Amino acid sequence: RQNRSLKTQTKRFKLTFSLKDLSEQIKQVTKENHVRAENTELMLSFQRGQVTLQQYKLLLCSLYEIYQALEEEMDRNCNHPGVAPIYFPTELARLEAIEKDLEFFFGQDWREKIIVPAATKRYCHRLRQIGKENPEFLIAHAYTRYLGDLSGGQVLGRIAQKSMSLKSSEGLSFFAFPGVSSPNLFKQLYRSRMNSVELTEEERNGVLEEAIMAFEFNIQVQNSYAWLQRETMLFKDGTLIKRTPLLRMVLAIFVALATVSMGIYAL
Ligand code: HEM
Repeated sequence: RQNRSLKTQTKRFKLTFSLKDLSEQIKQVTKENHVRAENTELMLSFQRGQVTLQQYKLLLCSLYEIYQALEEEMDRNCNHPGVAPIYFPTELARLEAIEKDLEFFFGQDWREKIIVPAATKRYCHRLRQIGKENPEFLIAHAYTRYLGDLSGGQVLGRIAQKSMSLKSSEGLSFFAFPGVSSPNLFKQLYRSRMNSVELTEEERNGVLEEAIMAFEFNIQVQNSYAWLQRETMLFKDGTLIKRTPLLRMVLAIFVALATVSMGIYAL
């Protein structure tokens, strides 16, 4: 059903905007998806200043996997004519910043603590697949992530600092773009580079469909967190662990013993 609605959305859009620049087309075709992406439970709690440390740490794990896949594929295809004009590793690359944040939140052994939902794995699988088969579709994914990070993402960074009561910008490198002095001017440059990419009509339509998919992947990742939060535990020292069946059993025995001891003590 998702495929059909995707096709209808793209078709409806193609009739109306077929002559415009790619940057305008992509914005128009993903408008509805953006509205849904900014209204997921996770994004709403972000906007209300209610994002918790646990929520943010989980999201950061997914962002790590996503940017690793995206940036590896962008690097590998940096000379491809569909990728070269929008390849800005110095200004945009996020992976190192995310690694720094993960170390801040999880400690030096953060790599062993990464937990990602299936939706993140599907998203990364798609990124790696198009990196091999249709590198020009990477425009759609780079647009969705980087222009989003340079837009609403900037406000979210400031809110996140307050919500998680972080004293400095430590742990929030992801939101900082030291190589971009004016996000608005940079977005203009990025759009003009997108528009300079030569695409056949078929490729262009593929990029537009891919952009809708990119938003959907992000929505699915965000929506996975309700489930993940129930499956994980955050300790006071910031350690995040998976609630395995064994751990659940140990916890249940601990609670039962504590209840029985309190009962005996009360007698
Ligand atoms: C709390 C959540 C969000 C808020 C408040 C937000 C807000 C915004 C704002 C204010 C803009 C600028 C619009 C303009 O220049 O006309 C924007 C642009 C954008 N956002 Fe978001 N956004 C959110 C979530 C997301 C998510 C989850 C994604 C995708 C993963 C995303 C992707 C984008 C993209 C690609 C653009 C650039 C649009 C363009 O100029 O072509 N946003 N967002």
